Amino acid sequence: MIPLSIPHLNGNELKYVTECIETGWVSSAGAYVTKFEEMVADFAGSKYGVAAVNGTSGLHLAMHMLGIDRDDFIIVPNITFIASANAAVYTNARPIFIDVDPDTWQMDLDLLEEYLEENKEKRIKAIMPVHVLGNMCDMPRLMQIADKHNIAVIEDASESLGSYWNGQHSGSWGVMNVFSFNGNKIITTGGGGVIVTNHEEHAKRAKHLSTQSKVNPETYFHDEIGFNYRLVNVLAAIGVAQMEQLPEFIKRKKVIDAFYRKELKGVGDIKFQKIPKEVDPNCWLFTFYSKKQSEILAALKENAIIARPFWMPMNQLPMFLDHDYITKQDYSKDIHKNCLSIPSSVNLTEEQLVKVVKTITSCF
Ligand SMILES: Cc1ncc(COP(=O)(O)O)c(C=O)c1O
Repeated sequence: MIPLSIPHLNGNELKYVTECIETGWVSSAGAYVTKFEEMVADFAGSKYGVAAVNGTSGLHLAMHMLGIDRDDFIIVPNITFIASANAAVYTNARPIFIDVDPDTWQMDLDLLEEYLEENKEKRIKAIMPVHVLGNMCDMPRLMQIADKHNIAVIEDASESLGSYWNGQHSGSWGVMNVFSFNGNKIITTGGGGVIVTNHEEHAKRAKHLSTQSKVNPETYFHDEIGFNYRLVNVLAAIGVAQMEQLPEFIKRKKVIDAFYRKELKGVGDIKFQKIPKEVDPNCWLFTFYSKKQSEILAALKENAIIARPFWMPMNQLPMFLDHDYITKQDYSKDIHKNCLSIPSSVNLTEEQLVKVVKTITSCF
């Protein structure tokens, strides 16, 4: 079987985890949590990092901290993983979905701009760009639009650790932004996330809220409703070992991406995700477009190669059928119907890569 995107745990993971177990520091206090937060923030060009149990809780916490509540709206791209929209719903806000650009598959900023101009009275509290597949949304333009309308930006940078727009890392533009370290991401802690921010007060409050808003452990005084969202030391230990290998992982992902682009270029109707010239992507998960999506998926399955269609667009899910979906041509539908992701783990062998390509090309 050739997996889609699995962890590569061949560095100091075992050593650091063993140390946690031998010293008893396995829970939410411990040096690895702080170290992991610092390493992620440093790498991603932000001043502060606050670890969370997963990316979803990080997104929830960020929105909660902005005071987002009932009667507020959050703008989310229509093509994203469900967690972006769910996190908005946890605050009781209502997501509004914006269609994506047909080439980059990121939130369509023309539609966004138009929508905000026409809906100035609406209580839109945040825009959440999602850097889909490690490609990036046009952040300078998005920040300009958000500033003009005085709306906060929270980047869902779950998939884009190691991706840059003109040299500036993803997750360093919005007020608070989130990376995920779920098992399929470029690095993993098994499950985990980090909120990054350049604002000390936000970092302090995020840590406070994620530890049940405990003011004094001796008296059990808590000053507001908090959450049990802090990542534990034993998982952060894995994260530290993974961060040590991140530059190597990015290099390997780029090699895999280049191989697929070279071998699949000009094959049938295959089209690739457009990477704007300003973007240096982390090449997290190779995904392409073909009208033969279902045949290719079937052929890959037959050959024990794991592949996936793209996420179902948010507007098609039962919970969101009555939500606003801003679109002209419903590119989301077309992208979902025709795109598929193929094996991209850093430890894929050359032989496996060749097998994936051969299986795909045999469909044309
Ligand atoms: C775009 C996107 N947003 C949010 C998440 C949620 O992250 P987590 O699984 O760590 O909660 C993920 C990944 O799983 C994701 O890919």
